[in-house]
Amino acid sequence: MKVTVVGAGAVGASCAEYIAMKDFASEVVLVDIKEGFAEGKAMDLMQTASLNGFDTKITGSTNDYTKTANSDVAVITSGIPRKPGMTREELISTNAGIVKTVAENLIKESPNVIIIVVSNPMDTMTYLAHKATGLPKNRIIGMGGALDSARFKYRLAEATEAPISDIDGMVIGGHSDTGMIPLTRLATRNSVPVSQFISEERMQEVKEATKVGGATLTKLLGTSAWYAPGAAVAAMVHAIATDAHKMFPCSCFLEGEYGLNDICIGVPALIGANGVEKIVEIELSATEKEELSNSAEAVSKTNGLL
Ligand code: 2OP
Repeated sequence: MKVTVVGAGAVGASCAEYIAMKDFASEVVLVDIKEGFAEGKAMDLMQTASLNGFDTKITGSTNDYTKTANSDVAVITSGIPRKPGMTREELISTNAGIVKTVAENLIKESPNVIIIVVSNPMDTMTYLAHKATGLPKNRIIGMGGALDSARFKYRLAEATEAPISDIDGMVIGGHSDTGMIPLTRLATRNSVPVSQFISEERMQEVKEATKVGGATLTKLLGTSAWYAPGAAVAAMVHAIATDAHKMFPCSCFLEGEYGLNDICIGVPALIGANGVEKIVEIELSATEKEELSNSAEAVSKTNGLL
């Protein structure tokens, strides 16, 4: 499998690193507009190969998309990250033009590519990539839910003092501080509802901490996070490479599912060789339905700024 990662900043480089560490891709091409930057990151990463035991070949390119030709999967991380105090939505004016150009360049070289969008505001950038390329909806996926769910599991493990491997949980809705919907009702510790281990009040704290997971890190780091976003992308690319039909909440183009239309927003989906193999419609409670409808309204409003 050939994977392109556009943007060799912290998120892009982490994507490349985690993909390489899983050792399933034959090649990862890093692309960046800054002269020599992607080549440098690629060389540095390649010098970890003998130490970390991978054979994936990582190469870099300064904005030359011919090097990305015939990629099976491409990850778009380009654009500016948020600074402390900013919302993801505030990045739209800068990132929209960049994401559109990148998506168009990618499909010129790789008409069969599956695109994973990471750039923020992620749901709107996924929608934009969908509109700009005209690719079928199964081949444009927004990473967000996979990351937010990993953050939810971290918070659940912390609250229950459980090992993370005991915990399962999922976040749907928009990838924004107010739009995320951590499904607390369905979270489990080894099949037992987490609500049996912690109070309703503690559960609400977990929910709130999950929703501002990215903002908390942005405040601590001075820029947005990269390890967990990179790992979330690598897990999704791995599911495509292995045709795993693994369920991830991720931003998918909806045509009636969950009562929503003409929008990309986080819903559970099976990810396999064709990208989104199936959108899974789970039974939501009345409150969760209302939260999803409010979240969708906010995403549509941001889409309206395109
Ligand atoms: C985050 O939540 C990058 O939006 C991303 O960290």
